[in-house]
Amino acid sequence: SGPVEFHGPHQAGIVTPAQDRLHFATFDVIATKRDEVIALLKEWTAAAALMTAGRDIGQYGAVNGPGEAPPEDTGEAVGLPPARLTLTIGFGPSFFTDAKGNDRFGIAARRPKALVELPHFIGDNLDPNRSGGDIAVQACSDDPQVAVHAIRNLARIGFGTTVVRYSQLGFGRTSSTSRAQTTPRNLFGFKDGTNNLKLEDTAKLEQQLWVQPEDGPDWMVGGSYLVSRRIRMTVEIWDRTSLGEQEAIIGRGKGTGAPLGKADEFDPIDFNARGADGQQKVAMDSHVRLAHPQFNKGAELLRRGYNFVDGSDGLGRLDAGLFFLAYQRDPRKQFIPIQQQLSRSDTLNEYIRHVGSGSFACPGGVTPGSYWGEKLF
Ligand code: HEM
Repeated sequence: SGPVEFHGPHQAGIVTPAQDRLHFATFDVIATKRDEVIALLKEWTAAAALMTAGRDIGQYGAVNGPGEAPPEDTGEAVGLPPARLTLTIGFGPSFFTDAKGNDRFGIAARRPKALVELPHFIGDNLDPNRSGGDIAVQACSDDPQVAVHAIRNLARIGFGTTVVRYSQLGFGRTSSTSRAQTTPRNLFGFKDGTNNLKLEDTAKLEQQLWVQPEDGPDWMVGGSYLVSRRIRMTVEIWDRTSLGEQEAIIGRGKGTGAPLGKADEFDPIDFNARGADGQQKVAMDSHVRLAHPQFNKGAELLRRGYNFVDGSDGLGRLDAGLFFLAYQRDPRKQFIPIQQQLSRSDTLNEYIRHVGSGSFACPGGVTPGSYWGEKLF
Protein backbone atom coordinates (compact mmCIF):
# COMPACT_ATOMS: atom_id res chain seq x y z
CA SER A 1 0.00 0.00 0.00
CA GLY A 2 3.07 2.26 -0.14
CA PRO A 3 3.85 4.92 -2.70
CA VAL A 4 4.88 4.30 -6.33
CA GLU A 5 7.64 6.67 -7.52
CA PHE A 6 6.07 9.38 -9.72
CA HIS A 7 9.32 10.39 -11.47
CA GLY A 8 11.36 8.16 -13.78
CA PRO A 9 12.29 7.39 -17.38
CA HIS A 10 8.73 6.23 -18.11
CA GLN A 11 5.44 7.38 -16.64
CA ALA A 12 4.21 5.29 -13.72
CA GLY A 13 0.94 3.40 -14.21
CA ILE A 14 1.95 1.53 -17.38
CA VAL A 15 4.22 -1.35 -16.35
CA THR A 16 3.50 -0.73 -12.66
CA PRO A 17 1.93 -4.00 -11.40
CA ALA A 18 -1.75 -3.34 -12.08
CA GLN A 19 -3.54 -1.93 -9.02
CA ASP A 20 -7.06 -3.07 -8.07
CA ARG A 21 -8.98 0.10 -8.89
CA LEU A 22 -9.32 2.66 -11.64
CA HIS A 23 -10.67 6.16 -12.03
CA PHE A 24 -10.14 7.26 -15.61
CA ALA A 25 -11.18 10.67 -16.89
CA THR A 26 -10.80 12.64 -20.05
CA PHE A 27 -10.79 16.42 -20.12
CA ASP A 28 -11.52 18.96 -22.82
CA VAL A 29 -9.51 22.16 -22.73
CA ILE A 30 -11.72 25.26 -22.79
CA ALA A 31 -8.85 27.72 -22.42
CA THR A 32 -7.61 29.13 -25.71
CA LYS A 33 -4.10 30.28 -24.77
CA ARG A 34 -1.01 28.13 -24.83
CA ASP A 35 0.27 29.70 -21.59
CA GLU A 36 -2.90 28.73 -19.75
CA VAL A 37 -2.43 25.11 -20.82
CA ILE A 38 1.21 25.10 -19.72
CA ALA A 39 0.27 26.65 -16.36
CA LEU A 40 -2.36 23.94 -15.86
CA LEU A 41 0.05 21.12 -16.71
CA LYS A 42 2.58 22.54 -14.22
CA GLU A 43 -0.02 22.74 -11.49
CA TRP A 44 -1.33 19.26 -12.27
CA THR A 45 2.16 17.79 -12.19
CA ALA A 46 2.94 19.30 -8.79
CA ALA A 47 -0.37 17.98 -7.43
CA ALA A 48 0.20 14.54 -8.97
CA ALA A 49 3.66 14.26 -7.37
CA LEU A 50 2.17 15.07 -3.95
CA MET A 51 -0.90 12.85 -4.24
CA THR A 52 1.06 9.83 -5.46
CA ALA A 53 3.33 10.29 -2.42
CA GLY A 54 0.21 10.17 -0.22
CA ARG A 55 0.26 13.86 0.64
CA ASP A 56 -2.36 16.61 0.56
CA ILE A 57 -1.98 19.06 -2.28
CA GLY A 58 -1.19 22.76 -2.06
CA GLN A 59 0.69 24.67 0.61
CA TYR A 60 -1.80 24.06 3.38
CA GLY A 61 -3.55 20.89 2.25
CA ALA A 62 -7.04 19.94 3.36
CA VAL A 63 -7.36 21.37 6.86
CA ASN A 64 -4.50 23.75 7.70
CA GLY A 65 -5.42 26.66 5.47
CA PRO A 66 -7.18 29.90 6.40
CA GLY A 67 -10.80 29.45 7.49
CA GLU A 68 -12.04 32.03 4.98
CA ALA A 69 -10.92 30.14 1.87
CA PRO A 70 -11.96 26.81 0.37
CA PRO A 71 -9.35 24.19 1.27
CA GLU A 72 -6.64 23.47 -1.32
CA ASP A 73 -7.23 19.74 -1.00
CA THR A 74 -10.73 18.26 -0.87
CA GLY A 75 -9.78 16.07 2.11
CA GLU A 76 -11.30 12.65 1.50
CA ALA A 77 -7.88 10.98 1.27
CA VAL A 78 -6.63 12.39 4.58
CA GLY A 79 -5.41 9.48 6.71
CA LEU A 80 -5.44 7.01 3.81
CA PRO A 81 -2.16 5.47 2.60
CA PRO A 82 -1.09 6.27 -1.00
CA ALA A 83 -2.32 2.76 -1.91
CA ARG A 84 0.11 2.61 -4.86
CA LEU A 85 -1.60 5.54 -6.59
CA THR A 86 -0.29 6.26 -10.10
CA LEU A 87 -1.39 9.09 -12.39
CA THR A 88 -0.67 8.74 -16.09
CA ILE A 89 -1.38 11.46 -18.66
CA GLY A 90 -2.06 11.23 -22.38
CA PHE A 91 -2.91 13.75 -25.11
CA GLY A 92 -5.64 13.01 -27.66
CA PRO A 93 -5.67 14.08 -31.35
CA SER A 94 -8.09 16.93 -30.55
CA PHE A 95 -5.50 18.48 -28.20
CA PHE A 96 -3.39 19.36 -31.24
CA THR A 97 -5.96 20.51 -33.79
CA ASP A 98 -9.63 21.41 -33.48
CA ALA A 99 -12.43 19.98 -35.65
CA LYS A 100 -11.65 22.56 -38.35
CA GLY A 101 -7.97 21.61 -38.40
CA ASN A 102 -6.78 24.76 -36.60
CA ASP A 103 -3.58 24.56 -34.59
CA ARG A 104 -4.91 25.14 -31.07
CA PHE A 105 -1.79 25.75 -28.99
CA GLY A 106 1.03 25.99 -31.52
CA ILE A 107 1.83 22.28 -31.29
CA ALA A 108 -0.01 20.85 -34.32
CA ALA A 109 3.28 20.17 -36.12
CA ARG A 110 4.41 18.11 -33.15
CA ARG A 111 1.49 15.74 -33.27
CA PRO A 112 2.88 12.19 -33.64
CA LYS A 113 1.91 10.35 -36.82
CA ALA A 114 1.06 7.34 -34.67
CA LEU A 115 -1.57 9.37 -32.78
CA VAL A 116 -4.38 8.59 -35.19
CA GLU A 117 -8.13 8.80 -34.73
CA LEU A 118 -9.18 5.17 -34.56
CA PRO A 119 -11.06 3.96 -37.65
CA HIS A 120 -14.61 2.63 -37.42
CA PHE A 121 -14.60 -1.07 -36.57
CA ILE A 122 -17.42 -3.47 -37.49
CA GLY A 123 -20.01 -3.50 -34.70
CA ASP A 124 -18.85 -0.23 -33.08
CA ASN A 125 -21.70 1.56 -31.35
CA LEU A 126 -19.79 4.49 -29.89
CA ASP A 127 -21.32 7.10 -27.64
CA PRO A 128 -19.58 10.44 -28.37
CA ASN A 129 -20.10 11.42 -24.73
CA ARG A 130 -17.97 8.47 -23.64
CA SER A 131 -15.34 8.87 -26.35
CA GLY A 132 -12.43 11.16 -27.19
CA GLY A 133 -11.13 13.96 -25.03
CA ASP A 134 -8.20 16.37 -25.31
CA ILE A 135 -6.36 14.98 -22.28
CA ALA A 136 -6.77 11.63 -20.49
CA VAL A 137 -5.68 10.91 -16.93
CA GLN A 138 -5.59 7.35 -15.70
CA ALA A 139 -5.62 7.08 -11.90
CA CYS A 140 -4.95 3.59 -10.56
CA SER A 141 -4.78 2.66 -6.90
CA ASP A 142 -5.55 -0.22 -4.59
CA ASP A 143 -8.05 2.07 -2.81
CA PRO A 144 -10.97 3.48 -4.85
CA GLN A 145 -11.25 6.56 -2.66
CA VAL A 146 -7.60 7.46 -3.33
CA ALA A 147 -8.13 7.16 -7.10
CA VAL A 148 -11.33 9.23 -7.00
CA HIS A 149 -9.70 11.87 -4.81
CA ALA A 150 -6.88 12.25 -7.35
CA ILE A 151 -9.15 12.80 -10.37
CA ARG A 152 -11.47 15.05 -8.40
CA ASN A 153 -8.61 17.31 -7.34
CA LEU A 154 -7.19 17.51 -10.86
CA ALA A 155 -10.66 18.46 -12.11
CA ARG A 156 -10.92 21.10 -9.40
CA ILE A 157 -7.51 22.57 -10.28
CA GLY A 158 -8.59 22.57 -13.95
CA PHE A 159 -11.75 24.60 -13.26
CA GLY A 160 -11.91 27.39 -15.86
CA THR A 161 -9.25 25.74 -18.05
CA THR A 162 -10.66 22.25 -18.62
CA VAL A 163 -13.96 20.43 -18.24
CA VAL A 164 -14.40 16.74 -17.54
CA ARG A 165 -15.63 15.08 -20.73
CA TYR A 166 -16.37 11.74 -19.09
CA SER A 167 -15.05 9.58 -16.31
CA GLN A 168 -15.10 5.86 -15.65
CA LEU A 169 -14.67 3.90 -12.43
CA GLY A 170 -13.26 0.40 -12.64
CA PHE A 171 -12.71 -2.41 -10.16
CA GLY A 172 -10.99 -5.79 -10.24
CA ARG A 173 -8.04 -5.36 -12.60
CA THR A 174 -8.52 -7.55 -15.68
CA SER A 175 -4.87 -8.13 -16.34
CA SER A 176 -1.53 -8.76 -14.73
CA THR A 177 1.37 -6.59 -15.78
CA SER A 178 3.95 -8.49 -13.71
CA ARG A 179 4.83 -12.17 -13.36
CA ALA A 180 4.68 -11.65 -9.59
CA GLN A 181 0.89 -11.11 -9.81
CA THR A 182 -1.74 -13.83 -10.05
CA THR A 183 -4.03 -13.59 -13.06
CA PRO A 184 -7.38 -12.03 -12.13
CA ARG A 185 -10.76 -12.78 -13.78
CA ASN A 186 -13.01 -10.62 -15.92
CA LEU A 187 -16.83 -10.50 -15.68
CA PHE A 188 -17.17 -13.49 -18.01
CA GLY A 189 -15.42 -15.46 -15.25
CA PHE A 190 -12.25 -16.14 -17.27
CA LYS A 191 -8.67 -15.50 -16.27
CA ASP A 192 -7.59 -12.38 -18.15
CA GLY A 193 -4.03 -11.22 -18.64
CA THR A 194 -2.27 -14.58 -19.00
CA ASN A 195 -0.57 -13.76 -22.31
CA ASN A 196 0.05 -10.12 -21.58
CA LEU A 197 3.19 -8.05 -21.94
CA LYS A 198 4.74 -7.91 -18.48
CA LEU A 199 7.16 -5.67 -16.63
CA GLU A 200 9.80 -8.42 -16.62
CA ASP A 201 9.81 -8.72 -20.46
CA THR A 202 12.29 -5.84 -20.73
CA ALA A 203 13.55 -6.53 -24.27
CA LYS A 204 10.01 -7.00 -25.59
CA LEU A 205 8.86 -3.78 -23.92
CA GLU A 206 11.36 -1.86 -26.04
CA GLN A 207 9.99 -3.55 -29.18
CA GLN A 208 6.30 -3.41 -28.36
CA LEU A 209 5.58 -0.81 -25.68
CA TRP A 210 7.96 2.15 -25.48
CA VAL A 211 8.38 4.70 -28.26
CA GLN A 212 12.00 4.51 -29.50
CA PRO A 213 14.22 7.40 -30.66
CA GLU A 214 13.86 6.31 -34.31
CA ASP A 215 10.06 6.46 -34.05
CA GLY A 216 9.93 10.13 -33.02
CA PRO A 217 8.76 12.72 -32.25
CA ASP A 218 11.42 13.37 -29.60
CA TRP A 219 8.88 14.32 -26.92
CA MET A 220 7.30 10.85 -27.16
CA VAL A 221 10.54 8.85 -26.69
CA GLY A 222 10.09 6.62 -23.65
CA GLY A 223 6.35 7.15 -23.88
CA SER A 224 3.57 4.93 -25.18
CA TYR A 225 0.20 5.14 -26.95
CA LEU A 226 -2.94 4.35 -25.01
CA VAL A 227 -6.14 3.02 -26.58
CA SER A 228 -9.22 3.02 -24.35
CA ARG A 229 -12.42 1.17 -25.23
CA ARG A 230 -15.51 0.97 -23.08
CA ILE A 231 -16.77 -2.53 -23.92
CA ARG A 232 -20.23 -3.45 -22.73
CA MET A 233 -20.55 -7.16 -21.92
CA THR A 234 -24.04 -8.66 -22.11
CA VAL A 235 -23.44 -10.86 -19.10
CA GLU A 236 -27.07 -12.11 -18.96
CA ILE A 237 -26.73 -13.76 -22.38
CA TRP A 238 -23.27 -15.10 -21.59
CA ASP A 239 -24.58 -16.64 -18.36
CA ARG A 240 -27.05 -18.77 -20.38
CA THR A 241 -24.25 -20.12 -22.59
CA SER A 242 -22.87 -23.59 -21.82
CA LEU A 243 -19.46 -23.98 -20.23
CA GLY A 244 -18.14 -25.80 -23.30
CA GLU A 245 -19.29 -23.01 -25.61
CA GLN A 246 -17.78 -20.33 -23.34
CA GLU A 247 -14.43 -22.13 -23.36
CA ALA A 248 -14.54 -22.60 -27.15
CA ILE A 249 -15.20 -18.87 -27.64
CA ILE A 250 -12.21 -17.82 -25.53
CA GLY A 251 -9.97 -20.78 -26.47
CA ARG A 252 -8.98 -21.48 -22.86
CA GLY A 253 -10.36 -23.52 -19.95
CA LYS A 254 -12.47 -21.51 -17.52
CA GLY A 255 -11.08 -23.09 -14.33
CA THR A 256 -7.35 -23.29 -15.01
CA GLY A 257 -7.07 -20.68 -17.75
CA ALA A 258 -4.99 -23.24 -19.69
CA PRO A 259 -5.17 -23.24 -23.50
CA LEU A 260 -7.66 -25.89 -24.66
CA GLY A 261 -5.85 -29.22 -24.86
CA LYS A 262 -3.24 -28.15 -22.26
CA ALA A 263 -3.06 -28.52 -18.46
CA ASP A 264 -1.50 -25.35 -17.10
CA GLU A 265 -2.34 -21.68 -17.49
CA PHE A 266 1.08 -20.72 -18.84
CA ASP A 267 1.50 -23.66 -21.24
CA PRO A 268 2.04 -22.33 -24.76
CA ILE A 269 -1.00 -22.48 -27.02
CA ASP A 270 -0.82 -25.29 -29.62
CA PHE A 271 -2.81 -23.94 -32.55
CA ASN A 272 -2.33 -27.14 -34.55
CA ALA A 273 -3.69 -29.58 -31.95
CA ARG A 274 -6.80 -31.47 -33.08
CA GLY A 275 -9.33 -33.42 -31.01
CA ALA A 276 -10.63 -36.96 -31.70
CA ASP A 277 -13.30 -35.34 -33.94
CA GLY A 278 -10.57 -33.88 -36.15
CA GLN A 279 -11.51 -30.29 -35.17
CA GLN A 280 -8.95 -27.72 -34.00
CA LYS A 281 -8.82 -27.71 -30.20
CA VAL A 282 -8.36 -23.92 -30.23
CA ALA A 283 -11.06 -22.93 -32.71
CA MET A 284 -10.20 -20.78 -35.72
CA ASP A 285 -12.63 -18.07 -34.55
CA SER A 286 -11.68 -18.19 -30.85
CA HIS A 287 -10.61 -14.97 -29.14
CA VAL A 288 -7.08 -16.07 -28.20
CA ARG A 289 -6.29 -17.32 -31.72
CA LEU A 290 -7.46 -14.14 -33.44
CA ALA A 291 -5.69 -11.92 -30.89
CA HIS A 292 -2.44 -13.91 -30.72
CA PRO A 293 0.78 -12.34 -32.09
CA GLN A 294 1.33 -15.32 -34.41
CA PHE A 295 -1.72 -14.21 -36.41
CA ASN A 296 -1.07 -10.47 -36.09
CA LYS A 297 2.42 -10.04 -37.59
CA GLY A 298 3.94 -10.35 -34.11
CA ALA A 299 1.97 -7.40 -32.67
CA GLU A 300 1.37 -7.42 -28.91
CA LEU A 301 -0.28 -5.12 -26.38
CA LEU A 302 0.16 -4.28 -22.73
CA ARG A 303 -3.43 -4.69 -21.55
CA ARG A 304 -4.34 -2.90 -18.34
CA GLY A 305 -8.14 -2.81 -18.22
CA TYR A 306 -10.73 -2.94 -15.44
CA ASN A 307 -14.19 -4.38 -14.88
CA PHE A 308 -17.07 -1.96 -14.52
CA VAL A 309 -20.71 -2.17 -13.43
CA ASP A 310 -22.41 1.21 -13.79
CA GLY A 311 -25.79 0.26 -12.32
CA SER A 312 -28.40 -1.19 -14.66
CA ASP A 313 -29.74 -0.13 -18.02
CA GLY A 314 -33.48 0.17 -17.27
CA LEU A 315 -34.19 -3.04 -19.17
CA GLY A 316 -33.33 -5.34 -16.28
CA ARG A 317 -29.72 -5.80 -17.37
CA LEU A 318 -26.49 -4.77 -15.68
CA ASP A 319 -24.58 -2.00 -17.43
CA ALA A 320 -21.47 -4.12 -17.08
CA GLY A 321 -18.32 -4.68 -19.04
CA LEU A 322 -14.63 -4.20 -19.50
CA PHE A 323 -12.99 -0.80 -19.59
CA PHE A 324 -10.22 -1.92 -21.94
CA LEU A 325 -6.94 -0.02 -21.70
CA ALA A 326 -3.99 -1.04 -23.86
CA TYR A 327 -0.54 0.56 -24.20
CA GLN A 328 1.66 0.09 -27.24
CA ARG A 329 4.47 1.55 -29.33
CA ASP A 330 2.30 2.24 -32.42
CA PRO A 331 -1.48 1.69 -32.58
CA ARG A 332 -1.34 1.59 -36.40
CA LYS A 333 0.61 -1.66 -36.13
CA GLN A 334 -0.89 -3.03 -32.92
CA PHE A 335 -4.38 -2.20 -31.63
CA ILE A 336 -5.90 -1.26 -35.00
CA PRO A 337 -5.03 -4.41 -37.01
CA ILE A 338 -5.74 -6.69 -34.04
CA GLN A 339 -9.15 -5.10 -33.46
CA GLN A 340 -9.92 -5.17 -37.20
CA GLN A 341 -9.37 -8.92 -37.13
CA LEU A 342 -11.35 -9.40 -33.89
CA SER A 343 -14.25 -7.25 -35.12
CA ARG A 344 -14.56 -9.36 -38.28
CA SER A 345 -14.49 -12.89 -36.87
CA ASP A 346 -14.32 -13.17 -33.07
CA THR A 347 -17.17 -15.34 -31.68
CA LEU A 348 -16.96 -13.16 -28.56
CA ASN A 349 -18.65 -10.36 -30.55
CA GLU A 350 -22.06 -11.93 -29.91
CA TYR A 351 -21.62 -11.05 -26.23
CA ILE A 352 -19.85 -7.68 -26.31
CA ARG A 353 -20.30 -4.23 -27.82
CA HIS A 354 -17.76 -1.41 -28.01
CA VAL A 355 -19.53 1.73 -26.78
CA GLY A 356 -16.71 4.18 -26.01
CA SER A 357 -13.28 4.87 -27.47
CA GLY A 358 -10.18 7.02 -27.19
CA SER A 359 -6.58 7.24 -28.33
CA PHE A 360 -3.88 9.18 -26.50
CA ALA A 361 -0.16 9.89 -26.75
CA CYS A 362 1.40 9.38 -23.31
CA PRO A 363 4.80 11.10 -23.15
CA GLY A 364 7.91 9.68 -21.53
CA GLY A 365 8.55 9.94 -17.81
CA VAL A 366 8.65 13.06 -15.68
CA THR A 367 11.98 14.15 -14.20
CA PRO A 368 11.99 16.17 -10.96
CA GLY A 369 11.42 19.84 -11.77
CA SER A 370 9.82 19.18 -15.15
CA TYR A 371 6.12 18.93 -15.90
CA TRP A 372 3.80 16.61 -17.79
CA GLY A 373 4.29 17.18 -21.52
CA GLU A 374 7.06 19.80 -21.04
CA LYS A 375 9.01 18.59 -24.10
CA LEU A 376 5.92 19.02 -26.25
CA PHE A 377 5.80 22.81 -25.71
C1 HEM B 1 -6.61 -12.62 -24.40
C2 HEM B 1 -11.06 -11.65 -22.72
C3 HEM B 1 -11.30 -7.75 -25.63
C4 HEM B 1 -6.76 -8.58 -27.06
C5 HEM B 1 -7.79 -12.71 -23.70
C6 HEM B 1 -8.14 -13.77 -22.77
C7 HEM B 1 -9.39 -13.48 -22.30
C8 HEM B 1 -9.83 -12.27 -22.93
C9 HEM B 1 -10.21 -14.29 -21.29
C10 HEM B 1 -7.28 -14.98 -22.41
C11 HEM B 1 -6.31 -14.74 -21.30
C12 HEM B 1 -5.11 -13.90 -21.66
O1 HEM B 1 -4.19 -14.36 -22.33
O2 HEM B 1 -5.11 -12.73 -21.24
C13 HEM B 1 -11.51 -10.52 -23.38
C14 HEM B 1 -12.81 -9.92 -23.19
C15 HEM B 1 -12.89 -8.83 -24.01
C16 HEM B 1 -11.61 -8.74 -24.71
C17 HEM B 1 -13.88 -10.46 -22.25
C18 HEM B 1 -14.00 -7.84 -24.22
C19 HEM B 1 -14.93 -7.58 -23.33
C20 HEM B 1 -10.10 -7.65 -26.28
C21 HEM B 1 -9.76 -6.60 -27.24
C22 HEM B 1 -8.48 -6.85 -27.63
C23 HEM B 1 -8.02 -8.03 -26.93
C24 HEM B 1 -10.67 -5.47 -27.67
C25 HEM B 1 -7.60 -6.08 -28.59
C26 HEM B 1 -8.01 -5.46 -29.66
C27 HEM B 1 -6.33 -9.73 -26.44
C28 HEM B 1 -5.00 -10.27 -26.61
C29 HEM B 1 -4.97 -11.46 -25.87
C30 HEM B 1 -6.27 -11.59 -25.24
C31 HEM B 1 -3.87 -9.66 -27.44
C32 HEM B 1 -3.78 -12.42 -25.72
C33 HEM B 1 -3.85 -13.43 -26.83
C34 HEM B 1 -2.65 -14.37 -26.78
O3 HEM B 1 -1.56 -13.93 -27.18
O4 HEM B 1 -2.80 -15.50 -26.35
N1 HEM B 1 -8.84 -11.81 -23.78
N2 HEM B 1 -10.81 -9.78 -24.30
N3 HEM B 1 -9.03 -8.49 -26.13
N4 HEM B 1 -7.07 -10.54 -25.62
FE1 HEM B 1 -8.94 -10.20 -25.01
